[in-house]
Amino acid sequence: MAQEPAGNASTAASPYGTLPPASLPASRKPISLPRIQEMHSRGEKITMLTAYDATFAAMADAAGIECILVGDSLGNVCQGRHSTVGVTLDDMAYHTESVSRGLRRIQGTAWLIGDLPFGSYQESKEQALRSAVVLMQAGAHMVKLEGGGWTAEITRFLVERGIPVCAHLGLTPQTVHALGGYRVQGRGDAAADLMRRHALELQAAGASMLVLEMVPAALSAELTHEMPHCATIGIGAGKGTAGQVLVLHDMLGVNLGKNPKFVRNFMEGATSIRGAMEAYVAAVKNSSFPDDAIHAW
Ligand code: KIV
Repeated sequence: MAQEPAGNASTAASPYGTLPPASLPASRKPISLPRIQEMHSRGEKITMLTAYDATFAAMADAAGIECILVGDSLGNVCQGRHSTVGVTLDDMAYHTESVSRGLRRIQGTAWLIGDLPFGSYQESKEQALRSAVVLMQAGAHMVKLEGGGWTAEITRFLVERGIPVCAHLGLTPQTVHALGGYRVQGRGDAAADLMRRHALELQAAGASMLVLEMVPAALSAELTHEMPHCATIGIGAGKGTAGQVLVLHDMLGVNLGKNPKFVRNFMEGATSIRGAMEAYVAAVKNSSFPDDAIHAW
């Protein structure tokens, strides 16, 4: 994908949007894997938010979000699909490139994670490497992949080759048809034991982050304690994880239906989108979001 050369006509004032051309002073050091690990060790909550385009990514960075996930949830919120299964690697590369460009425009410091879409890593570890290279070359710092067991070998293969990996257990939307719907995962001793085994295997394989989606709060908290080298990031997994992630459109209330129970609409009480993002950062940092009595199982 073509990178914009610095200082050309494209950096002049544009009639659309107001991203300044690399003029904001950096307000924090770039987020790196060691910094994420250090936050996890210290118990400082890690903030993650999805973004799919340059402007929202820049806004999220300016609001203090530490990790921006270009999620394949773009299939739902940008492309109008019922599931993420139809999202392609080309789609992910396009949006990752857009987000990366937005961050560069403001000298952003967020850690950028690109989601490997369905079908781009299931075949073999070599296929996973080829797909991960596409996202890394589009500007990602880390790739995310869904599932446990068979993904440990792929994770090790990528990590050994210098590609940081975020794993994803619990509700894994790419396999929604196999799971029988968007349901809580890890309920009951057998399911919890299996998730624990998969999580520990992924940590041993070198995954440095693990998204836990729709997982009972007690199990997520236990896994977080058992995984000192892999920061758990919860969505519908209670407040005991090392960090939290939400889908941008959901936390801004940009939808016509009912939000899932684990979402808070941060636009309520905010006067701007940046204000809503800042409220999310503050609520995650001070552990007032999520509220396990409302947002968890
Ligand atoms: O695709 C996505 O946005 C995700 C998050 C919900 C974690 O995987």
